[in-house]
Amino acid sequence: MKKIRVKLSSNPYNIYIKPNLLKSLPSIIKKYDLGNFGIVITSKSVGRLYRKKMAKIFPKNKYLIITVADGEKAKSKTWLFKVIDKVVKADTLSRQLFLICFGGGVVGDLGGFIAAIYKRGIPYIQIPTTLLSQIDSSIGGKTAIDLPIAKNILGAFYQPKAVCIDPLVLKTLPAKEFKQGLAEAIKYSLIKDKTFFAFLKKNHALITKQDSKTITQLISTCVRIKAQIVEADEKETKGLRTILNFGHTLAHALESSSKYRSVPHGYAVSIGMLYAARLSQYLKKSRSSDVSEVEKILKLYSLPTKFLANPLKLYQSLVYDKKFIRGKIRMVLLKNIGKVSVVEGIRPETIKLTLERFGTK
Ligand SMILES: NC(=O)c1ccc[n+]([C@@H]2O[C@H](COP(=O)([O-])OP(=O)(O)OC[C@H]3O[C@@H](n4cnc5c(N)ncnc54)[C@H](O)[C@@H]3O)[C@@H](O)[C@H]2O)c1
Ligand SMILES: [Zn+2]
Repeated sequence: MKKIRVKLSSNPYNIYIKPNLLKSLPSIIKKYDLGNFGIVITSKSVGRLYRKKMAKIFPKNKYLIITVADGEKAKSKTWLFKVIDKVVKADTLSRQLFLICFGGGVVGDLGGFIAAIYKRGIPYIQIPTTLLSQIDSSIGGKTAIDLPIAKNILGAFYQPKAVCIDPLVLKTLPAKEFKQGLAEAIKYSLIKDKTFFAFLKKNHALITKQDSKTITQLISTCVRIKAQIVEADEKETKGLRTILNFGHTLAHALESSSKYRSVPHGYAVSIGMLYAARLSQYLKKSRSSDVSEVEKILKLYSLPTKFLANPLKLYQSLVYDKKFIRGKIRMVLLKNIGKVSVVEGIRPETIKLTLERFGTK
């Protein structure tokens, strides 16, 4: 079993990664001694697919399983209070509650937020079941729900006691969800790790068929990178987490111009990364050979590299994005494969021009 330590000064924790880890879950959870009654939060699809396994891992006398809707709509006020009402009912005098998030990023964000606010904080464990949640959202303690006005606007930094990753659960994940996670894996390679980029290029066949050893290595590498960035800037106060936003500026504009629905996040990130690389080349910060490497790897994984949106509308959406207030445009740009830099003061005209060019390519 791989064990990666997230070395935070006040809340350090371990991330365990192993194919078939679900089997060892009862002993891992027991070791942590977090309380005498567990609330398991899961989503509809995961609850259905893993019903038998969950019944074994989480026996009825010690756990209550709460199932929320699939997808982003569970990160809402309605679902937050539906779950909290059930938690309150389960919280009898003799019980010390702890929480388990068993699902994708949505379940992790919602469950983590409940753990953060219920009685000013109860312990929780993340058991992420999508590639995105295994390599990204379950690490770093960011928890949140959405309000109609904006995504992730109601949230807290609240670290889990442990993260348990079983790469085999990805076998049941829809192919599209898996591919979205791969876009984030490519992001890690571009921002931090040239060797990992070479690994992704070389192992395309094994990765797409989810060879267990290769996927475990992929997940561990991403987890290590994310953990290092989080360790350096736990609460996002030093600006060091900013590089994680590589590709995400245009991605958010693409998503918001489609009301978060029609463009899946990972696909938007794929397009956003290529745009950031092209913009970087335009500003003479990266070489054309590196930009074509970016394009090649995205195409290798059948990720989109073009957008179907009006460049002008996208530009307006970018300019109104909170990152661009007071006319200052700040973006994470590619320097070379494995290295990015945060560039400030990009002129709005440059964004407009490069978007127009990108849109027609
Ligand atoms: N907290 C953070 O740092 C952070 C970082 C990135 C993203 N996020 C958040 O993560 C969320 C997206 O997470 P996601 O991409 O994991 O999507 P998700 O949680 O919506 O899961 C996608 C779908 O797959 C299903 N599913 C999950 N695991 C499965 C499995 N093993 N087999 C079959 N079906 C499965 C879910 O029920 C859901 O329908 C967004 O809300 C985003 O804001 C948070
Ligand atoms: Zn992302």
